[in-house]
Amino acid sequence: MQNLDAILQEALAQFKRTEDAATLEQVKSHYLGKSGVLTGLLKGLGKLPAKQRPAEGQRINQAKETLEAALEDRRNALKARKLEAQLAQDALDVTLPGRGLGVGGLHPVTRTLERIETLFKSMGFMIAEGPEIETDYYNFTALNQPENHPARSMHDTFYLDDGKHLLRTHTSPIQIRYMEKHKPPLKIIAPGRVYRVDLDATHSPMFHQIEGLWVDEQVSFSDLKGVVSEFLLRFFEREDLKVRFRPSFFPFTEPSAEVDMSFGEGWLEVGGCGMVHPNVFKYVNIDSEKYQGFAFGLGPDRLAMLRYGVKDLRLFFENDLRFLRQFN
Ligand code: PHE
Repeated sequence: MQNLDAILQEALAQFKRTEDAATLEQVKSHYLGKSGVLTGLLKGLGKLPAKQRPAEGQRINQAKETLEAALEDRRNALKARKLEAQLAQDALDVTLPGRGLGVGGLHPVTRTLERIETLFKSMGFMIAEGPEIETDYYNFTALNQPENHPARSMHDTFYLDDGKHLLRTHTSPIQIRYMEKHKPPLKIIAPGRVYRVDLDATHSPMFHQIEGLWVDEQVSFSDLKGVVSEFLLRFFEREDLKVRFRPSFFPFTEPSAEVDMSFGEGWLEVGGCGMVHPNVFKYVNIDSEKYQGFAFGLGPDRLAMLRYGVKDLRLFFENDLRFLRQFN
């Protein structure tokens, strides 16, 4: 059969020219399909004289194999080309800068607390902590406010249902907890959340305090004044800052004072302080003949307001990101 070679050459040429997989399959069925050219030739074998059939059949089958091999090559080539094109299209430029994720920031009060801690640490104070759910004993009794003491009514307190626990109204209970476990000399600050029934522009039912306590053999009221004034000066970094100690009353300190500060116009109260009351030392078995010390409680929320010029304390706790983002 003379034209078999011509058919083979033409088919191979067509495979080569075909540029996509679907067309290639069409070309394939034109030659190798059920009613394809080669299949037709095989069917036509019966019309040949019997002697020629085996040789002719072999030739056609060889041509078929050649075509199938060529087809497979072309299929693979087209597949590879497609993959390459896709890779080129999806190419990542790994040298481009990333889009980045929005980074969170610290709450202004947290920032303030960290700054306060750093400053006190540089003055040799250690950091202590205590639970926010307290017992009556640590929050009041051991701080020289026995039941029925009128000072207890100074705090409108959140009591828990069991009647024995409350949300601490100040960080002073940490003084007691710390002195129960450690013997003087001791020098700590204790930051934390405290709770009172209070809500207006300068009061929130939850707010923060930093407790300070320094007990040793010769700690005096002038040390107290020095430490607190030095802290405030370093915190605000302002030459015009004035600090004043105004006589006051706390059951757990004697004498006691209110700490006020000023940038020139008017005084603002930023905390309370005093010398640890001998009765408090009695509760924690510290000899008040040998040791004395001072304690203070500062309001970091108030300090943050003054430092950042925020007029309403409630803004800190509303979690409005438009407000909070300004501090980062
Ligand atoms: N705990 C007091 C308050 O919350 C503040 C204070 C602390 C006063 C330590 C004296 C000494 O008002």
